[in-house]
Amino acid sequence: MTELLRFANVSAGYGPFRALFDVSFDIQPGEAVALLGANGVGKTTIARVATGLLAPSSGTVTFGGTDLTGAAAHRFARAGVAHAPEGRSVFATLSVEENLRLSFRRSKGRAGVDAAVGQAFELFPALGQRHRQIAGTLSGGQQRMLAMARVIVEEPRLLVADELSLGLAPIIVDEVYRNLDRLRQHGCALLIVEQHVGHAVALCDRAVVLDRGRTTWIGPADQASERLVRNLFQTESPMENSPTE
Ligand SMILES: Nc1ncnc2c1ncn2[C@@H]1O[C@H](COP(=O)(O)OP(=O)(O)OP(=O)(O)O)[C@@H](O)[C@H]1O
Ligand SMILES: [Mg+2]
Repeated sequence: MTELLRFANVSAGYGPFRALFDVSFDIQPGEAVALLGANGVGKTTIARVATGLLAPSSGTVTFGGTDLTGAAAHRFARAGVAHAPEGRSVFATLSVEENLRLSFRRSKGRAGVDAAVGQAFELFPALGQRHRQIAGTLSGGQQRMLAMARVIVEEPRLLVADELSLGLAPIIVDEVYRNLDRLRQHGCALLIVEQHVGHAVALCDRAVVLDRGRTTWIGPADQASERLVRNLFQTESPMENSPTE
C-alpha cells in the first residue's frame, strides 16, 4: 500500500536553529497517528512541515506518492491536507456563516457553497443557531467547532490537528474527539498533536514519540501507554521559549 504522508529524514528549523533532525515516519491512508512529546520537542514544527508552512532544510516529504518537499501550503491543501492549528483559526470580525462561506468558496467553488454551509450546520446545529453571530464573540469551544466544521465539510485526505482541544472544557473536548472520529470514519487520515494523551491514544492507531527533534519511538498507539509517555516526559527539560503562533 502506498503511504499517504511520508517524512524521510526530514530536518527543519528556524534560521540557524534546528528543530527537527532526520525525522522519518509515515501515515497510511485513513490511519490516525498521534504525535507525542514534551513542550518544545518539535511537534508543531512537524505539523508545519506536513502542511507546507515550513520547508524542510533536508529530507523529503511526499503526499499520496507526490513529492511535495518545499512546496507551498496551498499545494498541500489542494492535495488534500488540512491544518487545524493551535489556537483559534477563524476570522474574528466576520459572522459564523461568512467564515464558512469564505472558506467553502475557496475549496468548493461558488456553486458548492450553499450545500457546504448546509452540511456544516447539519453537523453542528449550534453553529446554525448562531449563523449571524460575529465569530470573535463565540466561546473558545464554539470557535473550535467552527474551524472544525470547515475542515470536515472540505473532506480532506489528511487532517493535521495541532492542540485542537487546547483550553477547551472537557465536554467540548469530547465533542471535538467525536468529530475527529467521524472524520476518520469518512476515510480521513489524522495526525494528532495533543496534550490529552489519553484521548489521542484512544483515537489513534499508531504513535510517534519525539524527543528534542528526533523520533524516539514509533509503534501501536495502545502501547504508547501513559507510563511510557510519562517516562519520556521525565527525561525532558521543557524549553523555556514556548513558541507563539
Ligand atoms: N518561529 C520560531 N522561531 C524560532 N524558533 C522556533 C519557532 N517556532 C518554534 N521554535 C523552536 O523550535 C523548537 C520546536 O518547537 P515546536 O513549536 O515545534 O515544539 P512543540 O513540540 O510543538 O512544543 P509545544 O508542546 O510547546 O507546542 C522549540 O525549541 C521552539 O522554541
Ligand atoms: Mg506545539
